[in-house]
Amino acid sequence: MYTKPTVLVTRKLPFAVEDRLQRDYEARLNPDDKLYSHEELIERARGAQAILPCHTEHFTADVLQRLPAEVRIIANFSVGYDHVDLEAARTRGIVVTNTPDVLSDATAELTLMLMIGAARRASEGEKLVRERKWKDWSPAFMVGTQVTGKRLGIVGMGRVGRVVARRARGFDMRIHYHDIRPVTGIQDVVWHDALDDMLPHCDFLSLHCNVTPATRGLMNARRFALLPDGAILVNAARGALVDDDALVEALKSGKLRAAGIDAYNNEPNVDPRLTALPNTFLMPHIGSATTETRDAMGFRALDNLDAFFAGRAPGDRVA
Ligand code: DGY
Repeated sequence: MYTKPTVLVTRKLPFAVEDRLQRDYEARLNPDDKLYSHEELIERARGAQAILPCHTEHFTADVLQRLPAEVRIIANFSVGYDHVDLEAARTRGIVVTNTPDVLSDATAELTLMLMIGAARRASEGEKLVRERKWKDWSPAFMVGTQVTGKRLGIVGMGRVGRVVARRARGFDMRIHYHDIRPVTGIQDVVWHDALDDMLPHCDFLSLHCNVTPATRGLMNARRFALLPDGAILVNAARGALVDDDALVEALKSGKLRAAGIDAYNNEPNVDPRLTALPNTFLMPHIGSATTETRDAMGFRALDNLDAFFAGRAPGDRVA
């Protein structure tokens, strides 16, 4: 007789996704959406063959080592997988998957919002109106900088980077990008083999690469100095790509005119220096937060689980 595999689901998922989970698996759901500690995670995984986590759960080498032996797959509800020590997962023989493609549009939309919000001083403006402190209109009031026609540098021309490039074209932006190799299928973009060579050409710089040992702290003081004065940084990828001390300094000195940020070091405890600055436009890691995308992410994670338990290779295996 077929026994449904048991799946530990670490966070509350969209209704339709939980529905399918319950139909096809012994699903251990988290209706209260409580964030599990490492100990709880390990304890709750007892007897489960699979875990369906988000980027909020950190699978360090120690956690992976202590997971019950029955756990055979971690099917992430996220495109990013820097929260999983892949090497340690491989050593333990645990398969790891992610959810690429389905969140590219939503994340690119938010990236454009961050660019515009930072350039047009959206946080300051909204605060003035909400706090009823808006007193007058004048030609010099709340003047920002235009996005249209500016140069955009994209770090990492992957799935999200490409959509950002296409959408930015709607603002007549001139696109530069840095990636390991030139990409095909996208016209009128300037490839830079070296990030340092691209930075002087960026009025806006948007980060879309994975966190790896090579990209951790990628935007540091030396690299901020290479940007044109008054550039704008946008980060809807991961906080670990940016050195916060260098970012704060660049924002204070005016080297950076502004920053639009959705991903932080040490989330959700955003560096108070960033919240204190007027020239930051800050969102709470909501790049993929649309109904359409969150459903699609859940279904994609389930497709990976289905393939694995049917003895096929999951489409989105990263380890
Ligand atoms: C992702 O999918 O990586 C997003 O950052 C949400 O986790």
